[in-house]
Amino acid sequence: MGFLDEIKKAGKDIKRAFKDVLSAPFVKEMCDTTANMYRLGWDERNGGNISYMLDEAEVGEYLDINNVIRKIPLAGVNEANFDVAPLIGKIFIVTGTGKYFKNVKDDPETNLGIIRVAKDGVELLWGYKDGGRPTSELPSHLMCHMARLKIDPQNRVVMHCHPTNTLAMNYVHELDEKKFTHTLWEMCTECIVVFPDGVGILPWMLCGTNDIGVATSEKMSEFRLVIWAMHGIYGAGKTMDETFGLIETVEKAAQIYMLTCNRPRINTIKDEDMVKLVELFGVEYRKDFLDL
Ligand code: 13P
Ligand code: ZN
Repeated sequence: MGFLDEIKKAGKDIKRAFKDVLSAPFVKEMCDTTANMYRLGWDERNGGNISYMLDEAEVGEYLDINNVIRKIPLAGVNEANFDVAPLIGKIFIVTGTGKYFKNVKDDPETNLGIIRVAKDGVELLWGYKDGGRPTSELPSHLMCHMARLKIDPQNRVVMHCHPTNTLAMNYVHELDEKKFTHTLWEMCTECIVVFPDGVGILPWMLCGTNDIGVATSEKMSEFRLVIWAMHGIYGAGKTMDETFGLIETVEKAAQIYMLTCNRPRINTIKDEDMVKLVELFGVEYRKDFLDL
């Protein structure tokens, strides 16, 4: 075998050394989470989106991270214009725009993409096989990642969805952060322990834009959960489970509220009892959201 042939063969061997990306734990987590969110009715049609920051070395076990499939301009519904400097070089797995959560599990390579943030857009490393692109909410997601990473360097996940009861509650409950959070805390004993920082609320705004991204990320420096009035919710966390669990707990509380709000309330969890809970679990909470 000539020298060139040997180099070619070595190149092929290197290629073969990559593990199958479809078997990667982060792809499986995206598949399982989108399937669960769909099953729970939080993501009708193409509703919802997830972005998950990955470890470069881990991605490198599955993909040649120097092989950029195509460059995609940074955009929501319109071209986006904000400073992504803190995220340049970071790799994310992100749901595709217009893609249905119910379909992700059966065809991850079309419905998901692995992207790297660059100065002037994102670089596609895998996925969006049909020519697709990341969620139209990517500007909001990236701004939220930047905001949360400042508070918690371990933050990895930003999740958006349209949970039914949370949304229903938006129509019948005052959209005041203190009052809304307080009502949710009263609905299940563990709410105040799961989201002691409460829930931020934005008024109805046009989605897919820079403006809603800026507003959401500003709220995210105070809250891990932000409601987009009459639209849905954003959650952020260190892991997929933590982020899913935050939204799941809000949605459960909202469900209990919607099941009971038309009837006289005879019993409730008192503010003094909530204090006992946070003291027992040793969590910092929004004291100004209680009436003591
Ligand atoms: P995408 O399909 O672009 O992710 O949008 C879904 C959505 O929920 C918009 O808020
Ligand atoms: Zn949405």
